[in-house]
Amino acid sequence: MYFSLGSSALLLLTLTLESWALSFPRGSDELVDCLKSSLSPSGSVQTPGDPLFVNDTTRVSSYDAPSFKVVSQVTNEDDVRASIKCATSANIPFLFTGPKHGFYTGFEKLQNGLEIYTAALDQITVDADANTITVAGAGRFQDVVNSLYAVGKNIRAGIGRLQGLYGLLIDSILSLYIMLPNTTVVEVTKDKNPDLFWGIRGAGFNFGYVLNATYRVYDEVPNGQNLNADFEYPYTAANEFYQALKDEAPKMPAPLCIATSLQWSPTYNKIDGVMPQTTLFVNAVYAGPESEGREAVKFLEGISPVLRKNYTEVPWNQLTQNAFFLKGDEAILNCAATYGERSVFGAVINQVDVDASVQMTEQFNYLVTKYPQMRGSDNSMYFCAKQAVEAVPEDSAAYAWRGALGHQTWGYLFEGNSSTSDALIEYLPEKIRSTIADTAGTDGLEVYIGFSNGDEPIESVFGKEKLPRLAALKKKYDPDGLFNAYHPLPTSYP
Ligand SMILES: *[C@@H]1O[C@H](CO)[C@@H](O)[C@H](O)[C@H]1NC(C)=O
Ligand SMILES: *[C@@H]1O[C@H](CO)[C@@H](O)[C@H](O)[C@H]1NC(C)=O
Ligand SMILES: *[C@@H]1O[C@H](CO)[C@@H](O)[C@H](O)[C@H]1NC(C)=O
Ligand SMILES: *[C@@H]1O[C@H](CO)[C@@H](O)[C@H](O)[C@H]1NC(C)=O
Ligand SMILES: *[C@@H]1O[C@H](CO)[C@@H](O)[C@H](O)[C@H]1NC(C)=O
Repeated sequence: MYFSLGSSALLLLTLTLESWALSFPRGSDELVDCLKSSLSPSGSVQTPGDPLFVNDTTRVSSYDAPSFKVVSQVTNEDDVRASIKCATSANIPFLFTGPKHGFYTGFEKLQNGLEIYTAALDQITVDADANTITVAGAGRFQDVVNSLYAVGKNIRAGIGRLQGLYGLLIDSILSLYIMLPNTTVVEVTKDKNPDLFWGIRGAGFNFGYVLNATYRVYDEVPNGQNLNADFEYPYTAANEFYQALKDEAPKMPAPLCIATSLQWSPTYNKIDGVMPQTTLFVNAVYAGPESEGREAVKFLEGISPVLRKNYTEVPWNQLTQNAFFLKGDEAILNCAATYGERSVFGAVINQVDVDASVQMTEQFNYLVTKYPQMRGSDNSMYFCAKQAVEAVPEDSAAYAWRGALGHQTWGYLFEGNSSTSDALIEYLPEKIRSTIADTAGTDGLEVYIGFSNGDEPIESVFGKEKLPRLAALKKKYDPDGLFNAYHPLPTSYP
């Protein structure tokens, strides 16, 4: 449930993700020997059969997953360097991972590789007086949120609820340290290595491993409270809802964010009994006084029939586990309550097309009704105000979709059925995405990388206008394509 929301989708850092070296396996014995003799005493090496190996390589999605022969548990900068050097000299491809791992169809190309496991690099340092926070490579967003909440501060979102007020997370980066593919560490700010500062903010995983990044933080909204308004409608209310959203989205007040989730509902199916019932959840969060918030979400009151609704005041650091009627269930914070075969799709939306949105709703209802093994899937939308996002110049960073009105995402769960293939489910994920992308007022399919699948053309992910400069950077910093596991950039474009 709520796969897209539960993963780091809403608050993605777009910095490091995962990366691998493009080469062919030679000797894992040679690799193990090299790692054992060069990692620090706190680092460790695991091979299949070691008790921790399964724990450290289990992925949130087993669909299109990479496979590993060796895990290098790193605990500091020198361990990271040793791991890259050993893998390169043994000619074994590598992938950096945190304690949970993202989805990308291209990961399947990496087989029998080295996993560089970075979970220990999760240090977070808050300097409340200077209004900054420094987060190491595998820092977890919920820990960032709680560390800041404790001192009355908050942070801009990647793409997320506070973006109307504070802009994108990448706009708050002040400096970072990255280990380049040749293992040299450089500091990157708007004045030091400005070319990397531009490129890392949108495509950082192509240029090395970010050891840590320092962000500007902001004073908390008064009392740190948000109005959280949840609604659940039958999917047949889609027409009314999307009409309301189309009217409202372009004029949303800066503190407002609306998210949706369309899901097959076991509860309402039982009540209704006859027609399978998929329901549309709508969550509106207003980062400000309750009375203002109630006014801002009034347009949702007119939609009927409503199956249930709930207005509550929720502290900023507890929104994720309370939005969508979750009532504080923290399972969502572990990225996923269940593991399994999952895939992700997404599309940027510049205009709401009511007919297309209704068609998407019907296609999704058909999918989860006809194929019981798809019933854990989720169809979500994020429409957060964008005043502060647009206040930053388009060319300030590599990220290409600053102008997006909203984002549509799909998280598909192929439950307990490894024989489910695209063909078996009638290529519905691809068809549903086209329904939206073809009518979104964009230049074809455009997708925020955090919501991408891996099957998109590079222009859809990075943007045609950004690619010449990104390719030049790739050529300069990673000419051999060592960090090519995740959405690799070309070294020349066009
Ligand atoms: C297993 O991995 C999880 C993260 O996925 C981590 O929190 C836990 O500490 C690991 N268990 C051990 C015994 O290291
Ligand atoms: C690594 O690459 C950077 C950027 O091209 C360069 O400045 C640095 O000198 C290189 N380091 C080594 C050891 O070659
Ligand atoms: C960030 O990483 C650099 C390079 O490893 C290191 O010198 C610096 O101390 C780190 N900053 C923090 C706050 O950990
Ligand atoms: C409304 O949300 C609050 C906070 O999550 C929860 O405690 C309460 O039980 C919810 N009420 C209903 C009717 O869902
Ligand atoms: C998997 O899905 C296919 C197609 O829907 C179905 O024929 C098959 O029985 C399912 N297998 C299991 C183990 O659920």
